Amino acid sequence: MATLQFNRQEIAARALKPALLEMDGISRASVEAHYKLYQGYVNKRNEILRRLAEVDLTAANQVYSDIRALKVDLTFAIGGVKNHEVYFEHLGGDGGEPDGAIGALIARDFGSVAVWRADLKATGMAGRGWAWTAYDWDEERLSNYVGDAQNTFPIWNGTPLVALDVYEHAYFLDYQTDRGSYIEAFFANLDWAVVNDWVARYAIPV
Ligand SMILES: [Fe+2]
Repeated sequence: MATLQFNRQEIAARALKPALLEMDGISRASVEAHYKLYQGYVNKRNEILRRLAEVDLTAANQVYSDIRALKVDLTFAIGGVKNHEVYFEHLGGDGGEPDGAIGALIARDFGSVAVWRADLKATGMAGRGWAWTAYDWDEERLSNYVGDAQNTFPIWNGTPLVALDVYEHAYFLDYQTDRGSYIEAFFANLDWAVVNDWVARYAIPV
């Protein structure tokens, strides 16, 4: 039986920054529950890769097959890992106006911070899972993108710089159905220094 025996090294959940438990507007209880969901994505990613090592490749079928189910849901699990690692990493700050390189990029590509913020908030209100600000390496500019799930719809060759989680699990405990107020709290807790570190690390031209 043909099998996938390539690298399936397990990954571990990243530690939660202490500052995330002390935010204004996004409660400790909400963050702790959210972190458990993130750990679940890490565990499922590892489990799916273990199972892929045993799957029967000769039974592949587009209607239903084990490899189809595992491959589809692997993208959901890995998306859940990556999306939340961006989200948690750039929270715990003081919000305010984006400065430095990210401030310059936003001003250049959106015209103003107010336009960028209004567009990202509306994108978040329109999404079922995520709203993103990402740098598109082909168009050489920032854009805001919508995502309905962990594995939809961001584009290839883009680097996420702001990850706004709008799944109900991100805010229902604190805001019930008032997603707009949660999005305002999200902006108020962004850590722009972290985003500027990413701009530098990925050598995004400003
Ligand atoms: Fe989430």
